[in-house]
Amino acid sequence: MCNNLVLIGFMGSGKSTIGKKLSTLLDYKFIDSDCFIEKKEGRKISEIFQTNGEKYFRNLEKEFIQSHRQNSYSVIATGGGMPIYNDITQMGYIIYLKADFNIIQKRIEDSHTRPLFADLNKAYALFLQRQKIYEKTCNLIINANNPLQKILQDIMLQIKTNQNNKS
Ligand code: S3P
Repeated sequence: MCNNLVLIGFMGSGKSTIGKKLSTLLDYKFIDSDCFIEKKEGRKISEIFQTNGEKYFRNLEKEFIQSHRQNSYSVIATGGGMPIYNDITQMGYIIYLKADFNIIQKRIEDSHTRPLFADLNKAYALFLQRQKIYEKTCNLIINANNPLQKILQDIMLQIKTNQNNKS
């Protein structure tokens, strides 16, 4: 079995929801980078952006990566910008949850918690810019337009196939 599984993708692609379920299926620990950072800082991401700016937040993400490099049998849900600003390749096997913008838009109900989704046009421009980086960074692309159960099945199947190919 591979070590950490790292979920990447745009805001609203389902990283946290899928990550939690996947960790239960695999009996792995679940770590959400945004929650980890919020807990460490004692405030919400939106507040961190507002008070200290995005650069400060990216540094917190960098620290998160540095402290989660080892093989700890965890499923890690990353914030959407983490692989854009920092090298995450040492954290584990990287799975890109690729979803269309219209699906993402429907999934994001509360844009207040996501400072970079406050303006729809800007969010779409960011989405277009980031796709190539996600694709270049990942080990596996999963179609995240599908329903939750299908996404989970696809990931589990790929993990098992990788395992069989290794042994
Ligand atoms: C961000 C995504 C957010 C959060 C922060 C910045 C981004 O996480 O880390 O608001 O740059 O895409 P989610 O992808 O979990 O929404």
